[in-house]
Amino acid sequence: MKKRFFVIIMMAIAALVVSACGSSETSETNGSGKKELRVVTDAAYAPFEYMDGDKIVGFDVDFLKAAAKEAGYELKFENVGWDPIFVEIGSKRADLAVSSISINDERKQTYDFSLPYFLSTNKILVREDSTIKNAADLKGKVVAVQNATTGQEAMDKLLGKNNENIKKFDNNNLAIMEMLSGGADAVVADNGVVEVYAKNNPDEKLKVIEDNGSFEAEYYGILFPKGTDLKADFDKAIKKIVENGTYEKIYQEWFGQKPNIEMLKA
Ligand code: ARG
Repeated sequence: MKKRFFVIIMMAIAALVVSACGSSETSETNGSGKKELRVVTDAAYAPFEYMDGDKIVGFDVDFLKAAAKEAGYELKFENVGWDPIFVEIGSKRADLAVSSISINDERKQTYDFSLPYFLSTNKILVREDSTIKNAADLKGKVVAVQNATTGQEAMDKLLGKNNENIKKFDNNNLAIMEMLSGGADAVVADNGVVEVYAKNNPDEKLKVIEDNGSFEAEYYGILFPKGTDLKADFDKAIKKIVENGTYEKIYQEWFGQKPNIEMLKA
């Protein structure tokens, strides 16, 4: 009699433990039997991630979907904004983030990154008639950046932290708007973004300035909570889609040219 009671209690405890673990998971298994992962992003960074009506689209979105398909996961994207990405991943409320996030040592202390999937560098967006020719010319000028990006970091280094000539915005579109309305002389952001913006908005009469001496090469990676099991699955999937041509096809669709695959393999 006593033994049976003990067994029932143990089973109840086991059931509680199982259900508690289940509810703390960010991901769940959906109808197809595949695990659904919660992806967070800042969809104001075309052509990498942006809103098309109520849909989140872009190179990063297609890239991540292809990698997830390869790894056997379903994805649910959510546009939470830039700063919240790091809060959501840090607290493990989201499983992963894709948002043109540059891999760097500071972030690596707190988060895990996938293998690199895109080469990027900061460039300077200015009006066509601007006299700014390189990063050094930004001294004494007003520069708009997205808050807490590598663009801001580069400007902090060049112009000094807390310099009031560095105007920081929650998203990069607001930084560009500030320049268009005359509140800033330049925007510093990832080359892919400023180049596409200048090209797609010829009426704004803008140009993009490269300064490889001042801005370092950066690689984008998928951001994960530290210690995640997902990293191994996604790294394997990235290698696979680079090898089998899927990555190249997606790249070609978004950028109209072939990617430098060798640089990803290096
Ligand atoms: N690559 C830069 C960084 O990691 C900027 C990324 C901004 N991404 C975005 N979706 N707004 O800091």
